[in-house]
Amino acid sequence: MYTIAALLIFCFIIPFAAQASSIPPPTPIPIEHRSLDEIYPAALKENTTLRVAWGGDTPVSGTGIQKIFESRFPGIKLDLRLELSKYLDVEIDRHYEASKGLEEYVDVAVIQSLQDFPRWKAEGRLLSYKASQWNDIYPELVDKDGAYAGLYVFSFGSTVYNPDVYPNSSTLPTKYPEFFAPQFRDRIVLAYPNDDDSALFLFTLIVRKYGWGFMDRLLQQRVTWVRGTASPSQVLGAGQNSTSNQLSISFATSSAFATGVKSKLTNDVFMAWPQTGAIFARAKAPEAAKLFLNYLLDDEWQKLVGDPSVRFATRKSFDELGVFRQKNVDLLAYGRFLSNRSDVEEWRAKFEELLGPPQGRNPNCATSQKAFYGACSLDT
Ligand SMILES: *[C@@H]1O[C@H](CO)[C@@H](O)[C@H](O)[C@H]1NC(C)=O
Ligand SMILES: *[C@@H]1O[C@H](CO)[C@@H](O)[C@H](O)[C@H]1NC(C)=O
Ligand SMILES: *[C@@H]1O[C@H](CO)[C@@H](O)[C@H](O)[C@H]1NC(C)=O
Ligand SMILES: *[C@@H]1O[C@H](CO)[C@@H](O)[C@H](O)[C@H]1NC(C)=O
Repeated sequence: MYTIAALLIFCFIIPFAAQASSIPPPTPIPIEHRSLDEIYPAALKENTTLRVAWGGDTPVSGTGIQKIFESRFPGIKLDLRLELSKYLDVEIDRHYEASKGLEEYVDVAVIQSLQDFPRWKAEGRLLSYKASQWNDIYPELVDKDGAYAGLYVFSFGSTVYNPDVYPNSSTLPTKYPEFFAPQFRDRIVLAYPNDDDSALFLFTLIVRKYGWGFMDRLLQQRVTWVRGTASPSQVLGAGQNSTSNQLSISFATSSAFATGVKSKLTNDVFMAWPQTGAIFARAKAPEAAKLFLNYLLDDEWQKLVGDPSVRFATRKSFDELGVFRQKNVDLLAYGRFLSNRSDVEEWRAKFEELLGPPQGRNPNCATSQKAFYGACSLDT
């Protein structure tokens, strides 16, 4: 009897004991309980410039946050390193390798290269931290251990246009093949799919739906291709009140950073992604980094950010249109696409064969550090 009882106990205890020793129970990461005004003094005390890698392809995409953050939190210096996400992530990794893993290039990264975050986490380089709005973010858009979080939603695929040329928006395309109409010949400006992964993904969705014949027809419209996903809108905006600028319409562009353009949500497939942020474990200003992340998720910034025509957000309270209820977009698809690099390279090569290599300077050249050492002029 005793032997059997002892055996039974033994059987029950061992599996638990084994489990406990091989997988230590994860310490739950608490959600930040301090308000912005409570984190602020801790950040001030660090007396260290906060370095942020800020993915973007127009200098104006950084001016808002730079001004607003520094005036909201006087004394916190923000070194916003604005650059294309595809260059920021390699810069981050190159710096890490050069320092033999002792230093990170920045304290915080906010970029569109979603494939980097799980890898950085696996390398033990990200701080587990849950900002105070954590529970309001869709759970699909955060790392369960707090290593990274979707901060806001960007999208491409809307029809963006110069309203001087098209005062009646109901005549404008809501499906991509409608751009083949004769009235749009010589009028279309688009971001190269073979330069930016987010534009690439939009074009892969279109080609998967309509086939490569779509590209052949599109090219007959004599499209103007530009570098940077904000550039087409800026070209359209510059054409306002001008008769010499024929370019008046786009679909592969963000209208968030251009004035004088309007946009109209498409009825066709489109792409959107959670612009994602993380704090590095080796941050030199960890409290300022927390302040920054909490500010990006705060109501104040959430109201300011993003494309006003596409009212989606990673925070449920601000997701007016309900991004997960849309039938033409899958918010998680871009992250899946990016994680398969051979697939990305294959698509990029197919577009490059059609369009040639991207021409023109890096659209950030006006402000980027690279302008000072020449990379801008070489950077085609
Ligand atoms: C902050 O740092 C600067 C330069 O590193 C130093 O001159 C200054 O005294 C510091 N301020 C405080 C309050 O520690
Ligand atoms: C705009 O275009 C639509 C469709 O062609 C037409 O029905 C409508 O009357 C137009 N609206 C104005 C204000 O011209
Ligand atoms: C175009 O003209 C309108 C009306 O005069 C003006 O409000 C707008 O700022 C002008 N746009 C540009 C880009 O000059
Ligand atoms: C990655 O993409 C390639 C090319 O489309 C495909 O053959 C492969 O199965 C994909 N790999 C994964 C892990 O999904």
